[in-house]
Amino acid sequence: MIHPATFAFAAALALFAGVAQAQSGAAEGQNIAFDRGRGNCLTCHQIRGGDLPGTIGPELKELKGKYDRNELIAIVTDETRRNPLTAMPPFGRNRILTEQEIDAVVDFLLTL
Ligand code: HEC
Repeated sequence: MIHPATFAFAAALALFAGVAQAQSGAAEGQNIAFDRGRGNCLTCHQIRGGDLPGTIGPELKELKGKYDRNELIAIVTDETRRNPLTAMPPFGRNRILTEQEIDAVVDFLLTL
């Protein structure tokens, strides 16, 4: 039998690893979002901590209350599916960002 203390320790370790990964995902996502050659989100969106934002799109804030993770992935992957006339580039469909990069950007969006 596994000693309960061993189990609790393993569970705590797994939890910690999960949190650490989500944080590094968000940090990587912020880098991608702010990078003018990659996400370039600041060209159109005001984002906390970002310099010289544009105002073509709405400020990105409090997104957690508005969308779930899958909805945010869908928006970043291809906003034209929700709004055919949007100015926002379809980052996934046009392969501007990979699936993993979009995942990291969404980790970051969920911290705003
Ligand atoms: C060329 C301008 C442009 C760029 C670049 C851009 N967006 Fe957008 N974005 C928009 C516009 C305009 C909207 C408003 C909704 C629409 O047009 O359908 C929007 C909407 C959004 C929304 C929904 C916001 C809400 O409150 O409903 C999210 C989330 C979003 N963008 C994320 C991003 C991310 C992340 C990036 C960078 C990877 C990005 N956008 C880059 C123009 C842009």
